Parts: sequence; structure tokens; C-alpha cells
Amino acid sequence: MAKPTTVHFPKNFKFGVSTSAYQIEGGWNEDGKSESIWDYYTHTFPQRIVNLTSGDISCDSYHKFEEDIANIKRLKVQFYRFSISWCRILPSGHPNKINHAGIDYYNRLINALIQNNIEPVATLFHWDIPLSINNLGGWCNPITSDYFASYARVCFKHFGDRVKTWITINEPILIAMRAYGGAQLAPAYDSKGIGSYLSGHGELLGHMKAYHIYDKEFRAIQKGRIGITNDARWGEPATQTPEDIEAAERYMQMDLGWFAHPIFSKEGNYPLIMRELIDTVSKNQGFDQSRLPKFTPEEIQLLKGSSDFFGLNHYNTVAVKHGNTEVPPTNENDINCTTFYDPSWKTNGSELFRVVPWGFRKLLNWIKNEYNNPEVIVFENGFAGNDTETLNDIDRIDYMRSYMAAMSDAILKDNCRVTGYTFWTLMDNFEWQDGYTVKFGLHHVDFKDPNRKRTPKRSAFVYQDIVVTRCLTNPIPDRFLH
Ligand code: NOJ
Repeated sequence: MAKPTTVHFPKNFKFGVSTSAYQIEGGWNEDGKSESIWDYYTHTFPQRIVNLTSGDISCDSYHKFEEDIANIKRLKVQFYRFSISWCRILPSGHPNKINHAGIDYYNRLINALIQNNIEPVATLFHWDIPLSINNLGGWCNPITSDYFASYARVCFKHFGDRVKTWITINEPILIAMRAYGGAQLAPAYDSKGIGSYLSGHGELLGHMKAYHIYDKEFRAIQKGRIGITNDARWGEPATQTPEDIEAAERYMQMDLGWFAHPIFSKEGNYPLIMRELIDTVSKNQGFDQSRLPKFTPEEIQLLKGSSDFFGLNHYNTVAVKHGNTEVPPTNENDINCTTFYDPSWKTNGSELFRVVPWGFRKLLNWIKNEYNNPEVIVFENGFAGNDTETLNDIDRIDYMRSYMAAMSDAILKDNCRVTGYTFWTLMDNFEWQDGYTVKFGLHHVDFKDPNRKRTPKRSAFVYQDIVVTRCLTNPIPDRFLH
């Protein structure tokens, strides 16, 4: 039998768990909160969500956050990443009226975290845009970036004395692709190859404006950090032909690079290849202007360097092949590639994901090489279980351990500067279009119980052990197997 090996995480490495407001809070119309796009969407088109469910009550964290904090504390993690609901703080979407009940809720949450020695990490936008702003076009309307910045200022003002890590926007790529360029997420505009780029442009400007407000008005006094959290897949060439290798690189530049290049590259702006390709293809398709909006020279400068860390959510790898047969315009058609899952990759409880830990290490190396080894904080990584999952969630444990091993190789062997890891998620919750059928939690939640009883799964104990010992032992210690 092979000798057990142990990998130690660096001394200052931090561990956390993650959630988001709409997915866990419930209390959708309580104490002055207004409707977000997700309230409207789930109520108006219930058939678009598996089992016609919504986040109306979800885990009921609006009332049960103290219990959540007790569970977080038991995991022994250093930080908790949650999101603030824009509609709870500013019911009109604007700072003309501040809802003090909403402010109180987050004050109580933040204070309780700090009392329990858990650092609060707050996301400003995790997809629940106020309906009133969505009705004006949401992120496709450039003014939304100003509205978002005003909302961000209110949050910095009320919570920034205690919140020292801010995330502006969570997964802007996914929102651009699936909420505006597709119909899987609200508001489901399904404007492929047009709305995707337009909304993405708005999100980047929103991030930029919020960053500079923090930088100018708050940083000196509050002494915190602020950044964006991009989601990224690793794009593995489908074959080793030069064509597929090039297609995979194009995919990386025009997927993650779309949002990372303007902020983290030396030159700034959209990746040159993306700019040139979409400009040319748009023209050939008869558009009289490029489908990819342009930044002004000033915006290019303001975006460059506008993130104090490289926030990263990672779950998945895709195989990338040269060529595309979709009816244009679509993003993949612009990239001239086709992505798919290799049939040999392990599946899980959701069709959207595969288990490919080595892709994580490659992705971290790509980021290191492309953006001059920035400080990366992994703000999400997790495993999708389905309805058949039990408390003995061995598959989630395997996923977590193998992804953390890949990450530790990237840190210790490849010198990637990863300083934190966050497991998605604290407890089973509303998984967007999949409702409650896809489960990512370290804790099981009984959604039939009015009390929404939370029970730790086996993975919660394994994660706690990694956090406490700060190491990963292979093979998995016997005590976790029985
Ligand atoms: C990314 C999102 O940020 C989160 O809301 C979602 O639940 C997980 N991935 C899993 O799909």
C-alpha cells in the first residue's frame, strides 16, 4: 500500500463558506423589501423552475441566521461569504429611500459573525437585481452601472466599518451568457451574441464605478479590499491538433478573458483577439457596428487594476474544438469553437457540471501566466448532488478533496498565489432554475419542515478537519469512512 502523504496549506491561507441572499434568505416581501427580478420571475413563470419552486422562503435565513452562524462556527472557517440583497436595502433600487429594517438585518448578521470570530465577506450583486431596474433593461442599460454604484456606496457607508472584503459582482460571465444572452436565468432575455456583450459591458462598468467609489471615498478610513469574482471554466483542447489548441486559447481569452483582461492585464481593454474577431464577424454578418461595445480611453484606464484580488469561482472543465455550426450571432460562434464534455469525465447531480480536478490546476496556471500571478481567492467551488444524495455524501468529499489537492499543487508546486478557498455552499439552497433538486450544501436542509432543519453532512466534518489541521492527507483518514 502506498505511504500516506500530507499536503500542508500555507500559514496565512484562509478557508470559508459561501452563500447568496436570494438562494438562502427567504423573507422575500418582509419588512419593506421590494421585488427583485428573481421574485418576479419565479412568481410569473413558475414552470421555468424545476418543481415550480421559488426562493420565497428557501432556508429562511432571514429569520434563522443565528443558527447559520452556529453552523459556520462549527466548521471553524475563517470567513463567511454572503451577499446583500439590493432590494432589501433600497426598495426603489435607488438611495432616495433607505430601508432601515434591511440595514438592521445585515447589521445583525455582520455583528454576530464578528462576535463569533468569523470574518464577513460581502458580495454586492449576486444576481437579484431590483425589478424596477430590470424593467429599464437591467445590465443592458448603461445607466444601471451608475445605479449599482450608488447602491454600493450605501453599503460601504453602512457596513464598511466592519466588512473588510467586498465583492462587487458575482460571476458576471454567467449572468451575461445565461440571463441576457440566454434564457436559463432571470430575466432570460435570450439575446445571444448581442445582449450577452451589452450586459457584460454594463457589469464591467458597474464594477469599475463601485471600485472607484470605494477607492476614493472609503478605502483610507475603512482600510478594506474590493474586487470582482469571475467564474471560469478550464478550456481543454479537444485534441492536440494546432487548430484545437488555438481554439481552446481563444475560448479562454473570450470567456474568462472577456471580464478578466480589462481589469487584470497590462494593456487593459477587451482581449485584442476578442475585439478584432467580433468587430470583423459583426461586419461580415451585416451589422453596422460591432456587437461588442467599446470602452472610452478613460474607461480603459479606470478598469485597469480595479480589483484588489482575483476572485475566482470554479467548478468545471469543458473540451474545446475548433469550428462552430450555431446560427449566428452567438458567443461560441464568434469564438469559432464548440465546447462539450468528454464522456470519460465523471458526472454528478447536475447536467451542468463534471468532475475534472486537473482542470483547476491548469486554470490557476493560466491565470498566473496571463495576468502576472495575481493574488487569487477562490470564492466558490463545490459539488452538485441530486435528490438521491444522503448525509453520507462521499462524492462531495471526493470532489472537495481532489479539487483542493489540485489547488495545493498549483500553490506549492507551481507557485500560483492562491490565498483563500471557499466552499459552495454552507447548506442546500435554491439552485436557480434547478430549484431545490440540485444540492451543493455541506448541511442538508429539510425543505418540508417549517423549521427548515439543518443537518451536517459527512462532508461538513471532512471540511472542518481540513480547516482545523490545515492539511489534506491521502488516502482519506479512516475516521471519515465509517
Ligand atoms: C455559481 C453561483 O454563484 C451560485 O449562485 C450557484 O449556486 C453555484 N455556482 C452552483 O451552481
